[in-house]
Amino acid sequence: MSEFSTRLLEWQRAHGRHDLPWQGSNDPYRIWLSEIMLQQTQVDTVIPYYQRFLARFPDIGALAAAPVEDVMALWSGLGYYARARNLHRAAQLIANEHGGAFPRSATAIAELPGVGRSTAAAIAAFAFAERAAILDGNVKRVLCRIFGVEGFPGERAVEQRLWALAESLLPEREIGRYIQAQMDLGATLCTRGRPACTRCPFHDDCVARRDGRITALPAARPKKVVPRRSARCAVIVRDGAVLLERRPPSGIWGGLLALPEIPTDTADIPAWVALRCGLATGAAQALAPLTHAFTHFVLELQPVLLHASTAQGLADDGALSWLPLAGRTDAALPTPIRRILDTLASPSLFDDALAPPDNGLAPQRPL
Ligand code: ADE
Repeated sequence: MSEFSTRLLEWQRAHGRHDLPWQGSNDPYRIWLSEIMLQQTQVDTVIPYYQRFLARFPDIGALAAAPVEDVMALWSGLGYYARARNLHRAAQLIANEHGGAFPRSATAIAELPGVGRSTAAAIAAFAFAERAAILDGNVKRVLCRIFGVEGFPGERAVEQRLWALAESLLPEREIGRYIQAQMDLGATLCTRGRPACTRCPFHDDCVARRDGRITALPAARPKKVVPRRSARCAVIVRDGAVLLERRPPSGIWGGLLALPEIPTDTADIPAWVALRCGLATGAAQALAPLTHAFTHFVLELQPVLLHASTAQGLADDGALSWLPLAGRTDAALPTPIRRILDTLASPSLFDDALAPPDNGLAPQRPL
């Protein structure tokens, strides 16, 4: 599509945004400030902050000379505060090391704290008419759809393809308007959900539209395959209390109270409980299993209920203790363990689960 930039420029003239407060000036300070504020933040939210900020800090010198607290106060409510700290640091760097002169190329601008390749290109294009390509989230989406670029754009190889494509499309002239046009198309027509394809200048050429793949492009982040781990834990109850074990300080649930984990190769669970805890119990009964997602794995937890006889003492190695079920709300319990105890204590299950079987029959789901 050799006339890509021509068509986009025409569209911008007729339908793009022309009255945003940072347009119509090529002061790099004002443009830089707007681009930083517009990272992760909508235009409508930015405008009042931008105007207040400029009124208080009209140039780099004023910003560099201000205490960082004043800068943060003016940023307050805009979020992502590292942006404000970087902005202030960069202003001081420019004032002290560049003699107050804003760097004049995309490469030099990208050296400033808080400025990435795409932001640096936008500033250089708007302020100095440098032919530099941008590639923010909106532009990635637009290019993936129009040119049918496959793969997740967050992946290095796909991103490199997109940078090469973005650079190949740059016009010879009107670079500032062209960069604005890309931003405008992504923000107003080629939106993430329900894009306005009928009004798009690339309606007839867009690969995603032609192939009915608007929702499929750009490709979503591939789902991580997380390992699954399964474990059984012993729910040993006696007189309305449950036996808990304090976990070692490191590892999952470090320092929290949890149900004792039954080693994988245990065939006779009551025998293991007798050995491990010094408690005599009846037969083991499987409770409803549950899964819990950690950052790096999914735990499939199989709770196993055992009733300890009241007369028995506890083989106390310091890590084991009884927790009355009624006191579980205040105990330091991991979420899945709390869920098991909640189920155990819920009125519908109370009779079945907490009371030891008194009919001498085997439990429903013997292990
Ligand atoms: N988002 C990022 N930069 C922008 C700009 N210059 N105008 C509108 N929205 C933007």
